[in-house]
Amino acid sequence: MPAEQTPVENLTEEQAAAELAYLAAEIARNDELYHGHDAPQISDAEYDALKRRNDAIEKQFPQLIRADSPSIRVGAAPLPTFAPITHSRPMLSLDNTFSNEDVRDFINSVYRFLGQLPDGSIAFTAEPKIDGLSMSIRYEQGRLVNAATRGDGTTGENVTENIKTIKEIPNRLPAGAPDVVEVRGEVYMTKSEFLALNEKMAAEGKQTYVNPRNTAAGSLRQLDAKVTASRNLKFFAYAWGEMSEMPADTQMGMVEKFRDWGFPVNPLMKRLNSVEDIIAHYTDIGLKRPDLDYEIDGVVYKVDRLDLQARLGFRSRSPRWATAHKFPAEQAFTKVEKIDIQVGRTGALTPVARLTPVTVGGVVVTNATLHNEDYIKGIGNSGERIREDEHDIRIGDTVIVQRAGDVIPQVLDVVMEKRSSDALPYEFPKKCPVCGSHAVRERNEKTGKLDSVTRCTGGFVCRAQAVEHLKHFVARNSFDIEGLGAKQIDFFFESEDPALQIRTAPEIFTLKKRQEASPFAKLENIEGFGKVSVKKLFDAIDERRNIALPRFIYALGIRHVGETTAKLLARAYGTYEAFEAAMREAQSFSGDAWDDLNNIEGIGEVVARAIVEFFKEPRNVEVIARLLEEVTPQAVEQIAASGSPVAGKTVVFTGALEKFTRDEAKARAEGLGAKVAGSVSKKTDFVVAGPGAGSKLDKARELGVQVMDEDEWLAFISA
Ligand code: IVH
Repeated sequence: MPAEQTPVENLTEEQAAAELAYLAAEIARNDELYHGHDAPQISDAEYDALKRRNDAIEKQFPQLIRADSPSIRVGAAPLPTFAPITHSRPMLSLDNTFSNEDVRDFINSVYRFLGQLPDGSIAFTAEPKIDGLSMSIRYEQGRLVNAATRGDGTTGENVTENIKTIKEIPNRLPAGAPDVVEVRGEVYMTKSEFLALNEKMAAEGKQTYVNPRNTAAGSLRQLDAKVTASRNLKFFAYAWGEMSEMPADTQMGMVEKFRDWGFPVNPLMKRLNSVEDIIAHYTDIGLKRPDLDYEIDGVVYKVDRLDLQARLGFRSRSPRWATAHKFPAEQAFTKVEKIDIQVGRTGALTPVARLTPVTVGGVVVTNATLHNEDYIKGIGNSGERIREDEHDIRIGDTVIVQRAGDVIPQVLDVVMEKRSSDALPYEFPKKCPVCGSHAVRERNEKTGKLDSVTRCTGGFVCRAQAVEHLKHFVARNSFDIEGLGAKQIDFFFESEDPALQIRTAPEIFTLKKRQEASPFAKLENIEGFGKVSVKKLFDAIDERRNIALPRFIYALGIRHVGETTAKLLARAYGTYEAFEAAMREAQSFSGDAWDDLNNIEGIGEVVARAIVEFFKEPRNVEVIARLLEEVTPQAVEQIAASGSPVAGKTVVFTGALEKFTRDEAKARAEGLGAKVAGSVSKKTDFVVAGPGAGSKLDKARELGVQVMDEDEWLAFISA
């Protein structure tokens, strides 16, 4: 801070901008010292003076208010850190349905899985889907002991003190409640509270908040629980985690118990049987939506009987017994100012429309995806026309943009009446705008059709691909390295300094060593870092030297390998070494290793090919080898039911089953730690054969694989 301050009125715009940048950094640094480390370097009076100066400049130059302005940060601490809490039961998400047809399919799938005819005998609950943030609140012996955010579903953040400030959430449960109770539900901010808060912010000349949900999240992630308390957050209970005892045997019964224990529950929840009634309730809630004082984005349906829920079980991330029926997306009109191309991790060139800012359902939208070359032209993925009079999207066009939930907004259509004669048709690039390599549309080997995606052929040469690869590598579901986000990756990637540069993943793990060895280029002297954050960063990196195998595989960024596939692979191969060895063996796309890969339920040929192709690329193998010098992927533990006689075994079901549907039998076997394969090979441990079994049974006999009938299997797994 200059000793002599220029009076705010005399600042030029340029000086003001520079000073605001300085103040943002300086105040953030002091916040961090004060809150994060209890080690302030300046007095309170000096700190206040910095804030006052910032406010005064912002008042004079409101157009210069920065996104990271100290006046608009939700709270005092820039990056509050909360201790992690591992959920005793994972916090799952819901599948989405968008149409009445989808709802019918969902309901039919429930009956089908349970082997029943859709005769309307199964009851479903239907209740609003609250647009807030989910929370798990644990009680032991009737006392609130902790509260955690959802986080990645497995581990959340400990926000107990903040949750205790929410008046609607009881700190104690009445006598008679089970010893261990975990109530789950949604923390939210009412629309009226949100509007009032924004009015206050505006009156103080501060930046307003975007929407109630983000504001609720920000209000909760406060190191100072007093700030949370001042925000008047609310709660609806609708689910549970661990329970030492079940006080009811239906969804409705459980929610009624929560209400009896003092939790707010949603008054619009109903129990219904027929698809027609369910859809009528959805419509009714949709009509009430504008008048509700909280944001909702759909209606959640759940199978009411808990014993049926248990039989239906879960897919990898969501229950089979529930779905979220989303309300239609929100739309608005605006103008396409220009079209840019973004190059993704796999080289895909995605056109992005830069729009005149417009509010869609309460959120300001400035960018929207245009998907691919054909989409701009008005052609769908199967070659069909997607716009009525076959028009394209041009720069300068007035368009309809749509935003649905958290999905990236998209440009839906053009308002042709408003097209002006100078609207500019868009020519899709033939070269990667980042590295200049050819950009091509691959031909699908099976169908002979052109792929809708245009890809840069530059591979590792392409900076965009390399950077995106790294961003994927450090992202939340991958290595999740705190303090190493997209912004920092850009910085390290661009650096020309050998002691700072990160161009491939292994270099993340050698950064500390290189820093220590370098007499110059100290990270802590670089703006935006500082001694404390550098230490934190190195600690966060070191923490990830041991990493769960599914995360490791996902982080490699193999095309088509998302989290679910990564989990399947980890489970199937157990260790990284076994996985890589098998993929090398499968290089010719034939033989046992190739068959085994294709036999993993849930992995199709396209995905299998992509994985093997990935390991055929010497550069990938080389980078992974360097990575393995730094990090150790942990072998997958056999899942929970390791005591079961089928854990780790491979089972094939064939023929008709009478006690279960095929899907239920499979889900149950997997729940006990077995792998369920689609075809019989030397690696099959058991074949469960029902009436009518044919070639698979023959093959099992031929290979000497143990064969059981359904009853023998049931006796075996419950032994
Ligand atoms: S049930 C196992 N019910 O939606 C299923 N979720 O998309 C547990 N949500 O993470 C969720 N209202 O944050 C359920 N009435 C409701 C809900 C609801 C909002 C949220 C919840 C969940 C997300 C899944």
